[in-house]
Amino acid sequence: MMTSEKKDLITIKEASLFATKYIGKNVTTANILYLVQYGKVKKYGENGSTLICKSDLVTYYESANGKREIEWKEKLGSDLNWTLSFDNLKEADTTKHVHRLHPYKGKYIPQLVEYFLDNHIDNFKKDVYFQKGDIVLDPFSGSGTTMVQACEMGMHAIGIDVSAFNALIGNCKVMKYDITNIIIETNRITKKLKQFVYNSHIREFDEELTQKLYEFNNLYFPVPEYKYRLHHKEINEKEYSAKYEKEFLPIYQELVSKYGIKLKQDNYKTFLDKWYLPNVRSEINCVYDEIQKIQNSDTKKIISVILSRTIRSCRATTHADLATLVEPVTTTYYCHKHGKMCKPLFSILKWWETYTKDTIKRLKNFRQPLIFTNFSFHCSF
Ligand SMILES: C[S@@+](CC[C@H](N)C(=O)[O-])C[C@H]1O[C@@H](n2cnc3c(N)ncnc32)[C@H](O)[C@@H]1O
Repeated sequence: MMTSEKKDLITIKEASLFATKYIGKNVTTANILYLVQYGKVKKYGENGSTLICKSDLVTYYESANGKREIEWKEKLGSDLNWTLSFDNLKEADTTKHVHRLHPYKGKYIPQLVEYFLDNHIDNFKKDVYFQKGDIVLDPFSGSGTTMVQACEMGMHAIGIDVSAFNALIGNCKVMKYDITNIIIETNRITKKLKQFVYNSHIREFDEELTQKLYEFNNLYFPVPEYKYRLHHKEINEKEYSAKYEKEFLPIYQELVSKYGIKLKQDNYKTFLDKWYLPNVRSEINCVYDEIQKIQNSDTKKIISVILSRTIRSCRATTHADLATLVEPVTTTYYCHKHGKMCKPLFSILKWWETYTKDTIKRLKNFRQPLIFTNFSFHCSF
């Protein structure tokens, strides 16, 4: 440590007073400990004698994160508990292990639940509600974040939710699995799905379409020149993209008729009828039928969740409209997100394989750190 650094070492309490004065807003000792925990300021000293560098604090409050804290305190008041913003977390932290087994819009970030279960961030907090071995009840458990965090922290957990699907996701996150059985069953289903894909014309159609799109995009939407020209307003995106979207359409239609590809299902009664191209729907049915053959009920549940996640990613919509479904898209289209021509999905195989691998990895990651035996129960009514 440099001598000059040593000079500006201060305690957590002193740091909170200094920071409060420096930014003109209330900064608690908990806020300072949060910065230490997430590596925003360096920690010196051990066991209750934590010291930090004053200059590190200044650097932090001059950074983008620090400025955000000041701005929000200006808007909402200086008693805002910035620790609970979890501003320093990366997406990988908030979606760690089983928290990303399936999308769920109203999901809490796990660190928030952790904070309220056992606040180890804030050494000064008096109210630590739960200890290892306690039972946590979440009566509105949604996708099961509280149950997962309780399990991870050596507590038992009970979750209740009115939605049977949420109950399924929550249960799947905390269940104990025979991973080998999941691998055997997913391999079996993937093999069947591949056979299904190879027996249809879809693979050849998709390959030829991908090649044609690649050539077309290289010509009219070259990377990075096209985006550079867009950025510098040398191209009117709306007019330019409409022109080339129209120009590609006959190429697409010719391939559709060459391979005899059906673009719509016969009826539009259900969500699955409307939002999936016929081939995608057939592949979904193929996987669904194979799932029905699984004997182990836990394996069956988690593989159903993999299928559900896959189905969600394969809707006939544009990349820009994934969250807000407008109308099914059954042709190639100019994609504003990617700045080139894109195509709808004709097969679930890629996503099925991706999510299968990802799920197994996440289940393994979650199992390993567990020390205590947890009993988690989730019911729907
Ligand atoms: C905001 S979500 C909870 C999210 C959860 N904390 C998570 O991280 O996934 C609220 C949940 O309460 C459930 N819910 C609403 N009313 C309920 C009721 N009367 N009984 C049980 N669950 C209910 C909803 O189905 C929803 O899943």
